[in-house]
Amino acid sequence: MNLKKLYIDFFVSKGHKQIPSAPIVPENDPSVLFNTAGMQPLIPYLMGEKHPYGTRLCDYQKCVRTNDLDNIGDSYHHTFFEMLGNWSLGDYFKEESISWSYEFLTTVLNIPNERLAVTVYAGSDGIPFDKEAHDLWIKMGIPEERIAKTVEDNFWIAGETGPCGPDTEIFYFRSEDPIPEKFDPEDDRWVEIWNNVFMQYEKHEDGFFTELPKKNVDTGMGVERTTAILEEKYDNYTSSIFMPYINVLEKISNKSYNDYSREMRIIADHIRSSVFIIADPAKIVPSNTDQGYILRRLIRRIIRYIRKLDIDINTSWEDELIDLVIDNYKEYYSELDNREYIKEVFKNEKIKFNRTLEKGLKEFEKISNTDIDGEHAFHLYDTYGFPIELTLELASEKGIKVDENGFNEYFKKHQELSRTSSQGKFKGGLASTGEIETKYHTATHLLNAALKITVNPESHQRGSNITSERMRFDFNCDHKLTDEEIKNTEDLVNKWIGEGLTVTKEEMPKMEAVEKGAECMFIEKYPDIVTVYKIGDVSIEICGGPHVSNTSELGHFKIVKEEASSAGIRRIKAILE
Ligand code: ALA
Repeated sequence: MNLKKLYIDFFVSKGHKQIPSAPIVPENDPSVLFNTAGMQPLIPYLMGEKHPYGTRLCDYQKCVRTNDLDNIGDSYHHTFFEMLGNWSLGDYFKEESISWSYEFLTTVLNIPNERLAVTVYAGSDGIPFDKEAHDLWIKMGIPEERIAKTVEDNFWIAGETGPCGPDTEIFYFRSEDPIPEKFDPEDDRWVEIWNNVFMQYEKHEDGFFTELPKKNVDTGMGVERTTAILEEKYDNYTSSIFMPYINVLEKISNKSYNDYSREMRIIADHIRSSVFIIADPAKIVPSNTDQGYILRRLIRRIIRYIRKLDIDINTSWEDELIDLVIDNYKEYYSELDNREYIKEVFKNEKIKFNRTLEKGLKEFEKISNTDIDGEHAFHLYDTYGFPIELTLELASEKGIKVDENGFNEYFKKHQELSRTSSQGKFKGGLASTGEIETKYHTATHLLNAALKITVNPESHQRGSNITSERMRFDFNCDHKLTDEEIKNTEDLVNKWIGEGLTVTKEEMPKMEAVEKGAECMFIEKYPDIVTVYKIGDVSIEICGGPHVSNTSELGHFKIVKEEASSAGIRRIKAILE
């Protein structure tokens, strides 16, 4: 049974147009790192813009949710999942939405009525009880005792602000136990499979709601959960979607899923999200910021669990798993054609972390005879790249404690130190910030921005040093720059100097800066409020300054040397004449 096809065919038969799945990294929405729901790419249309495909849409959308990695390991949470959605943009409303959902579930998927239950919005904050939805479910044949009314769980919004409204959630009784007469949404034998949101409001930053220009319907059905149900599995990871990964893991580890279900679920889950993040057109690679940092954490967590299965982490265990993701999905998502590239990005991070992991684990062994204090936990983080969650996990396996508050204090102290240092106040930091150094500082931002255009959009600063004589700039790059790349870079920086771009400075919360796409080296090391420098529309960076106020002050920029700095890192020396 092909659930995606059944769903799309059904909604097309009800007048919907199928729209393509959007990339995982939102193209025009810097407020989120990943698409977490099918509606995310449709926000402008839910807010009133006209959609080129019309007012009835449907799709399958790949989504990534990584806000709660700790949940992964149980039988039904996933970081990567597909969401089936159908939308009305000011077209039909509750009646069609509810009756089509019911029709699809009971006549296309043949789910018996007695296994279904629903929740509806109970009413709060001036928004009334959703009697209409309630009465429509009764009309469909859902008995009163299978309709629960809640407030919190029946109002849906993607984040803090934006289009939103009361919803009705559909649950399925996934258990061999007799079905209780009364539905209790807290009883986890009832699994939520579909959510229909009646989007009528927009929530604003000040907390107020206004009516949207049109009433919309936004729905989301989880492919992984629904597939498991249709295959009568009580554990999503034993459905046909996940079993191939579990089989490979059992084979290469010579261990059984029964004994190692948590470890195998985490690996099977994270490999899917990692592959889709790497394959995304946004070309995300593991790094210390934004999506790159999430990707890094996912890959590091896979490696750690591979190790727990006693698989030699230095072998090519990932190849077969990556092939599975690609082969299972390439028919639906063409970006997965990039097989060799995906494997290479994964492998590079694997090699990098394998080195850190072994050293860090040795260090952990050394210090873990007793509880771990904040300083040691911070040392593991700072020197060996152990996210605090990894230290906590290791410690709990050993039955010792970690002073997490102490860790946070060290973390904060460290942030303050780097803020002082980045503001140029720290003794021995920016030793001298005379006029010429200030110019080099601004030229550094221009060079950083130019390399993304002339060499590689994923180029980032890896180090910088400024004297009154010259600037030095290190960045990630896998090849020696060609003469043409050097010339294009120089020309672009000089063009921006010639344009006389204004340099502006603004303070903002760190996450806001990240969401605006501000460039920075180690996001976790910055304080909560950061200074952001913008140069025209060409550069935005978190930085303590100082900078010139207009690029026309810089003079002529010239690259005098390009050389290797360390593995994968190139170094440019440049002057202003
Ligand atoms: N946007 C709704 C959800 O994700 C349908 O649950």
